[in-house]
Amino acid sequence: MTQTILVTGGAGYIGSHAVVELARGGHHPVILDNFSNSSRAVLPRIEELAGRAIEVVDGDIGDAALVGRLLERRSFDATIHFAGLKAVGESVAMPLAYYRNNVVGTTTLLESLAAAGVKRFVFSSSATVYGDPQSVPIPEDAPTAPTNPYGRTKWMIEQMLADLAVSDPAWSIGVLRYFNPVGAHESGRIGEEPRGTPNNLMPYVAQVAIGRRPQLSVFGSDYPTPDGTGVRDYIHVEDLASAHLSALDYLQQGGASTTLNCGYGHGYSVREVVKMVERVNGGRPLPVIESPRRAGDPPSLVAHAERIRQVLGWTPRFDDLETIVRNQLDWEYKLLREPSLATN
Ligand code: NAD
Ligand code: WQD
Repeated sequence: MTQTILVTGGAGYIGSHAVVELARGGHHPVILDNFSNSSRAVLPRIEELAGRAIEVVDGDIGDAALVGRLLERRSFDATIHFAGLKAVGESVAMPLAYYRNNVVGTTTLLESLAAAGVKRFVFSSSATVYGDPQSVPIPEDAPTAPTNPYGRTKWMIEQMLADLAVSDPAWSIGVLRYFNPVGAHESGRIGEEPRGTPNNLMPYVAQVAIGRRPQLSVFGSDYPTPDGTGVRDYIHVEDLASAHLSALDYLQQGGASTTLNCGYGHGYSVREVVKMVERVNGGRPLPVIESPRRAGDPPSLVAHAERIRQVLGWTPRFDDLETIVRNQLDWEYKLLREPSLATN
């Protein structure tokens, strides 16, 4: 059934892929974004991939008057809430900006949605809520103990959503805890372009591979992992986008509010990622230096990934490190040749 979906943060990295997927799936996504970490330049390419015009509202989730007007003007079936600040280091330096944007902003958004009676809601949470897990793979009922302000904003929003669902059973809420979203659209038309120096391994290593940066620092080689480097459950951004469609279908069919890990259930080490990048990049050796551990990094974060398949019937299409790395490198090469493609 065609649904009209409010997509907050729909111009961002993951949101743009979800908007394309929603439109291709026959839905009507409406983007609400303040472009604080994205660019209007991505919009024509989203429309090109979607095959039709997409309505875009330039505004803040915390602007109750603007959101109220939008909800009066259009009738929405559900919301997917991607909008948020997401840089861990920045959140340590500017905690109040994170609490205001993420927690206060989401509170205001939820008030607006409650007033308009739009009570189907999918939320972008993060594996960061697990903090340093006691064991891997991590099931959804593992203890949560985020270790930085960004993670605590996600945790607080999760608590708020759980309380909301208890207070009013009309709410149906899907909390998706993403592990490590990576890669780019297989068309090569949209992807992530972090502002400045990337914080995350995959864009960083790809930029080294294409010669934009001199070398990769491997943060820690003495972890209790098979090769001593950090292990993560990298999930292709298109699979992550499709999980949101599955979550919407599930909620639309009356599924109960739920919290689900979004990962493949297996991890790769930094060294394995480096090896794959070298292979995909024509065998060129990647300049690497061994560096101390990065503060706060757990050795291994891998999802217990059965629940999302059982509950949503979600089946990933890109669970293959080679495809992920190929899409990431293709996107970085394109950005190098056409910097105007940058999303952010
Ligand atoms: P992104 O920064 O590319 O996209 C977020 C979008 O939200 C941007 O377009 C930004 O302009 C917009 N935005 C931010 N604050 C807003 C506000 N107050 N009002 C309106 N728009 C606002 O990030 P992303 O990687 O696409 O992440 C999307 C969501 O997924 C975020 O909530 C993030 O915390 C979460 N998440 C991301 C990752 C990851 O590694 N990328 C992992 C786990 C969870
Ligand atoms: C992966 C591995 C690093 C960079 C972060 C956030 C998390 C979530 C996803 C939003 C680790 C190592 C990295 C580098 C390296 N975001 N590494 N050299 O830290 O698992 O998760 O993004 O919710 O909240 O913390 O991802 O890609 O930064 O790191 O060796 O230059 O690569 O130590 O083992 P992380 P990452």
